[in-house]
Amino acid sequence: MIMKIRNRFLLAASALLVCLAASAQVHRMDIDLKKVGAPIQSTMYGIFFEDINYAADGGLYAELVKNRSFEFPNDPLQGWKAFGTVEVWNDGPFERCPHYVRLVDPGHPHKWTGLDNEGFFGIGVKGGDTYRFTVWARVPDGGASELRIELVNTASMGEDQFVCQEPLKIAGKEWKQYEVILKPDTTLEKAVLRIFLVGDRKTVDLEHVSLFPTDTWMGHRNGMRKDLAQALADLKPGIFRFPGGCIVEGTDLATRYNWKNTVGPVENRPINENRWEYTFPHRFFPDYYQSYGLGFFEFFQLSEEIGSEPLPILSCGLACQFQNDDLSAHCPVDELQPFIQDALDLIEFANGPVTSTWGKVRADMGHPAPFNLKYIGIGNEQWDPLYPEHLEPFVQAIRAAYPDIKIVGSSGPNSEGEQFDYLWPEMKRLGADLVDEHFYRPEKWFLAQGARYDNYDRKGPKVFAGEYACHGAGRKFNHFHASLLEAAFMTTIERNADIVHMATYAPLFAHVEGWQWRPDLIWFDNLRSMRTASWHVQHLYGEYKGQNVLTLKMNGVNVTGAEGQDGLFASAVKDGDKVYVKVINTSEKPQSVEFAFNGLKKKEIVKAVERIDFTSGLLYEDNTLDVPDRITPVKAAFAGEGKSLTAAVPPQCFTIFILER
Ligand code: AHR
Repeated sequence: MIMKIRNRFLLAASALLVCLAASAQVHRMDIDLKKVGAPIQSTMYGIFFEDINYAADGGLYAELVKNRSFEFPNDPLQGWKAFGTVEVWNDGPFERCPHYVRLVDPGHPHKWTGLDNEGFFGIGVKGGDTYRFTVWARVPDGGASELRIELVNTASMGEDQFVCQEPLKIAGKEWKQYEVILKPDTTLEKAVLRIFLVGDRKTVDLEHVSLFPTDTWMGHRNGMRKDLAQALADLKPGIFRFPGGCIVEGTDLATRYNWKNTVGPVENRPINENRWEYTFPHRFFPDYYQSYGLGFFEFFQLSEEIGSEPLPILSCGLACQFQNDDLSAHCPVDELQPFIQDALDLIEFANGPVTSTWGKVRADMGHPAPFNLKYIGIGNEQWDPLYPEHLEPFVQAIRAAYPDIKIVGSSGPNSEGEQFDYLWPEMKRLGADLVDEHFYRPEKWFLAQGARYDNYDRKGPKVFAGEYACHGAGRKFNHFHASLLEAAFMTTIERNADIVHMATYAPLFAHVEGWQWRPDLIWFDNLRSMRTASWHVQHLYGEYKGQNVLTLKMNGVNVTGAEGQDGLFASAVKDGDKVYVKVINTSEKPQSVEFAFNGLKKKEIVKAVERIDFTSGLLYEDNTLDVPDRITPVKAAFAGEGKSLTAAVPPQCFTIFILER
């Protein structure tokens, strides 16, 4: 990550210090170096993935063709423009994706048969890069036929519309997969994939038409978009929650996320509805489906590659409770067995030997070694007695079969209140290992939550802050100030690492043309991506996670933005000989702080190493795709040594002080 040392900043900081010395109160923070506190779990800071805002298809999943299997239920040709004589058939080679298209001679030498695919808000291609076009095809009457595959700029004023074209010969009556590499000479954000029937124009059948960049994350053929996967890897996330979110539950049980449909050959993964197509009619996306190309195998594989513990969340047999008042929408408790079996089978898919039914599926997909799954969540935003009733048989079955797997339960959709107060004791009664809390809340809430976990029950389940983001009042979009308050809030997570074991900001991704929900952590278009201020906060916490909590107090109490603390929030951790002190000044004034170290030996001192300041004059703005690095943390020198150190914290700034013993 780019952190620039700016002399300009140093000068400003020293000027600030002079001013402060003359006028302001010094906030003394006592840091106890003797008493090493709770370990910070490796899972502490992580990521939450849901296919919302085109996060999967059209986003992280690098497939560029929309409706590649002609399975969109309202119109098998949605996303396609057919020309000439194109027929849709449904007795194809893939049982669960039976549709395919037949291209037939248009009947006149001056006419053409073929198809255009529009991609997801267009097809983004980079000039000079290579793209793998694949298709399952046959010549139903035998013999050979010929296609021409093009990437096209339909807006071109040039002589040709295409930016590359390649011939592709199809031969024989049997379905086979064909491949051709395309190399556009121009960068286009919104190219179109065009397929022409050429040559003798012998009838040809096409199924599962796919186009991927060859340069995917880790080079996987069914791979992820490299820049987006890199933005995840750079966070060094300790935990990776998947696949949501509300899509776990389904608007009805038939459309819940069904992990078993997401594994095995991609050609045979049936598509599913995506509830984010219609959840907000004011941001409606009638072509939003889940191809399941980014399924559970890809999730486990990516978790492994970026060093995260995977955390699958599965349906507990309750359809989305926001969308269903009618009890008949849910699975009765005494009919839950198939849902419970799904959970047990998922654990077997992840961890089972290659000789087991689901372990073999994993091995056949190319990963004979187990994925070493340790956690599973059952239910997303559930509430009322319905939830514990449904969860209980899952807990019993998972405990019996897999006693080492840690189970995550839910505290419902709210950060406090009746449902929350009811569910926490219920989760404790059922013996959940962690409880998932969600809070999309305004500034006021974040400012008031600096001590949230200080007095939590130490004997209950651990906390998973599973979905959170500051949703500014009247400012429900990404901006620096929201990220500052998230940083302030995260001090209570860090300080209470003995009970908070996981925290994931949500949602993760958003396509600039396809979002339903904001703010989000990472934005992208078809070619570019941008890491938000909130991403930088997550990154800083992950990078300076430390190993153990240290006690840090001001006038004997935690620094939580409480009355009389001048908008300051703080926490400290130890990392070997290093100490990281995080101070968030949420006020509009510069603040002077003094770190006083207790527990040092007589001759021992602490040295200042450097500081990282994260602030912005653009309080209600964020990075953009055009200027992706305008709000980034800045490393600066921080000098001094002794039994105490003083420093200035600029207004509305998140500073990490790096010290050495
Ligand atoms: O993150 C977006 C949505 O917020 C999730 O799907 C849901 O769990 C929560 O309500």
